[in-house]
Amino acid sequence: MAQIAGDFTDTIQLRDLWNDPYPVYEELRRSPTAWVPAANRYLVTRYADIAYLERNPEIFSAAEQNSLMTRVMGHTMLRKDGTDHLRERKAAEPALRPRMVKQHWTPVFQQLADELIDGFHERGEADLFTDFAGPMAALCLAAVLGLREVAAADLQTWSQAMMDGLGNYADDPVVWQHAEAASLGVDEAVDAAIARLRGTPDASVISAMLHADDPLSPEQIRANIKMFIGGGLNEPRDATAVGTYALLSHPEQLAQVRDDPRRFADVFEESVRWVAPIGMYPRQTTRETELGGTMLPAGARLGVVLASANRDETVFDAPDTFDINRRTKAHLAFGGGPHFCLGTWTARAQVGQVSLPTLLRRLEGLRLSDTEPVRWGGWVFRGLLNLPVRWNP
Ligand code: HEM
Repeated sequence: MAQIAGDFTDTIQLRDLWNDPYPVYEELRRSPTAWVPAANRYLVTRYADIAYLERNPEIFSAAEQNSLMTRVMGHTMLRKDGTDHLRERKAAEPALRPRMVKQHWTPVFQQLADELIDGFHERGEADLFTDFAGPMAALCLAAVLGLREVAAADLQTWSQAMMDGLGNYADDPVVWQHAEAASLGVDEAVDAAIARLRGTPDASVISAMLHADDPLSPEQIRANIKMFIGGGLNEPRDATAVGTYALLSHPEQLAQVRDDPRRFADVFEESVRWVAPIGMYPRQTTRETELGGTMLPAGARLGVVLASANRDETVFDAPDTFDINRRTKAHLAFGGGPHFCLGTWTARAQVGQVSLPTLLRRLEGLRLSDTEPVRWGGWVFRGLLNLPVRWNP
């Protein structure tokens, strides 16, 4: 069995994962946790193994050595364990709690969505990926973080440049240059926000970190805000585009949602199960241990493949099908354990309560355009690359 896996894993190319990782994951789930040379990691692909790993963070550490995230962003909470991690997470948390999201951020998100749609409504056609999902995610994130003077386009450029840095295993100097320029841009914006928020606190993440009982230093705030920008923009963008596409390509489910708009919450959850925006994240073993039938040495680098767990046939019936009526809903798109996504409620509100319902309500007769097909890409982060649509202006 392990030999079969070895033969297969040697053939896996990153390009194949980028194009369509799901057939590869289906194959990997049949074998023990496997070393995948192209990824330079053991890929953990089964739901049960990922749930076990997240219940044992003292064995499966987030504080990866020589982490590219730490190189690009500084030492963020996402690369810390135990009390060091908890301290920084707790400082940011008040800005992202469910009640804060409901009372404070949801009306802000609604206004931003309406203004964006006002800008292109009369055209009758758009690429909702570039015209709506991307800018909406950037504007919402800027508001939540407390970076309101930053332009949406800058935030998107910085986010992409830093994410490219996180994946720069080829050590391309141009990628480092762009990532460093982005990092400097964020530093300047964060320092300006800190100067403003020190005397006048508000509901934002930077303000929460600054005024916490155990406040974070400017250096810690800068690093964590880079992580928020790298990790809080593409995911709601991709969930918005995928959720819209899924509804437009499944008319019977669209009709159900139109009849009962409360079902938009299910559309959101099923969209991130179907195509997990964060497909894979890293962990490293702190000691020799067994996982999914494989003995792992201390210091083993793991890729935790949420995208695969979310399509694990032992948990989800017909896992490749988009189905808002499925019985099992416990997906892992937000991770699990101590690093469970801190922006979960923000994302649910932004995408499930505001973006998807507002697009469907305001763009009458919304349908996929036949001018060009939709394109997909990515495995570490995955989503649509375009979403051409038409409606009746
Ligand atoms: C659909 C949208 C989103 C998805 C699918 C998602 C997914 C995830 C996942 C899988 C993790 C865990 C990563 C790991 O353990 O290595 C995570 C962590 C995190 N996410 Fe999200 N995320 C989303 C939106 C957001 C948003 C909008 C924000 C901010 C407003 C955010 C902030 C964070 C933070 C701060 C962490 C690190 C938490 C910690 O280390 O304790 N996320 N997210």
